[in-house]
Amino acid sequence: MSSEKFDTVDIIRTKRDRGTLTPEQIDWTIDAYTRGAIADEQMAALNMAILLNGMNREEISRWTAAMIASGERMDFSALGKPTSDKHSTGGVGDKITLPLAPLVAVFGVAVPQLSGRGLGHTGGTLDKLEAIPGWRADLSNAEMMAQLAEVGAVICAAGAGLAPADKKLYALRDVTGTVEAIPLIASSIMSKKIAEGTGSLVLDVKVGSGAFMKNEDDARELARTMVTLGKDAGVNTVALLTNMATPLGLTAGNAIEVQESVEVLAGGGPSDVVDLTVALAREMLTAAGRPDADPEAALKDGRAMDVWRRMISAQGGDPDAQLPVARESETILAPADGVLTELDALAVGVAAWRLGAGRARKEDAVQAGAGVRLHAKPGDTVTAGSPLMTLLTDTPEKFERAREALADAVTVSPRPVGTAPLIIDRIS
Ligand code: URA
Repeated sequence: MSSEKFDTVDIIRTKRDRGTLTPEQIDWTIDAYTRGAIADEQMAALNMAILLNGMNREEISRWTAAMIASGERMDFSALGKPTSDKHSTGGVGDKITLPLAPLVAVFGVAVPQLSGRGLGHTGGTLDKLEAIPGWRADLSNAEMMAQLAEVGAVICAAGAGLAPADKKLYALRDVTGTVEAIPLIASSIMSKKIAEGTGSLVLDVKVGSGAFMKNEDDARELARTMVTLGKDAGVNTVALLTNMATPLGLTAGNAIEVQESVEVLAGGGPSDVVDLTVALAREMLTAAGRPDADPEAALKDGRAMDVWRRMISAQGGDPDAQLPVARESETILAPADGVLTELDALAVGVAAWRLGAGRARKEDAVQAGAGVRLHAKPGDTVTAGSPLMTLLTDTPEKFERAREALADAVTVSPRPVGTAPLIIDRIS
């Protein structure tokens, strides 16, 4: 006879039949799965029932609390400064964390940015930064605190002790088609952010082909759910809904995204990357009690660049080092004269991934130089035969599959069509 408090099959049946789980059932489920008393196939069935039938607000809140309780909680109160963090739900060409963390730190707000590696078509911030020679993602909690005190910003990997239930659950969801469940995404993201101990949080919830949430209604529901979870836990949380129908900026890859971020920190760079960086910085600074700060000025006058250089050096990186360059390139040309009206984010993300910028399995290595460099964005006028994008890789056999991914990615029209705004909505 099992000494366990609940029967896993009863819990699965409850959700399958659209019932509500009790707080005790939820606490037990997360704890039992983390210690191996619930089998992966049972948890996969429960995740699928949650994906299909949802969870109410109390269930999501308890599920999140149970995931937080599965590991350690960090505490930055000893720093004596406000803390703020940003989380993006993931997109193509989304390098915003790189300029944003040092930019916010300019104003005395500490940024403890725990980031991940890419899996699938969305890139990972740590993979991008690892393109910088010598840069190290794994810091101890003491190293992280010291860097926050001295530099004010840190971008590093989440330690194994933070929400271990989520690490196990996320890996299972990834291979069982259960990533795209709003209660599971919201609890996964917010358990890590709340356990991390940030005082305020700005969520960048992506909408469009390159995002988990393909339509605005779902993205809005995800944003509202996460904002509620954050506020209930005492974290000042706001969300921006932003467009991910087309890639951000002109690069999707690792080293090329670092290069573009450095352009932004030098006061240049593509306008969409600059605009979103500044908008998110304003939100973070306001949420952290610095509403009068002027992040635009700090990008232009080099203060953000100074913090970037110190942040990269503190983690062993050389901010002046030559970044890796892909050995091979191929250029895709515009099929006709006209206006580029569509450049599909998902297709570009898949192409960059197939070129070697991303990984298919957690243990795969990424190519630092691989990716896609865009020469035109929606709204730009193009002429037949002009370069639209350059594919980059060290392994030219990958070009064919990347080109396949891009087969329907581009629409050139005789006349411009309205493009969706970059920032769609704000939820607080
Ligand atoms: N990012 C996460 O951390 N968790 C999810 O479930 C989805 C995106």
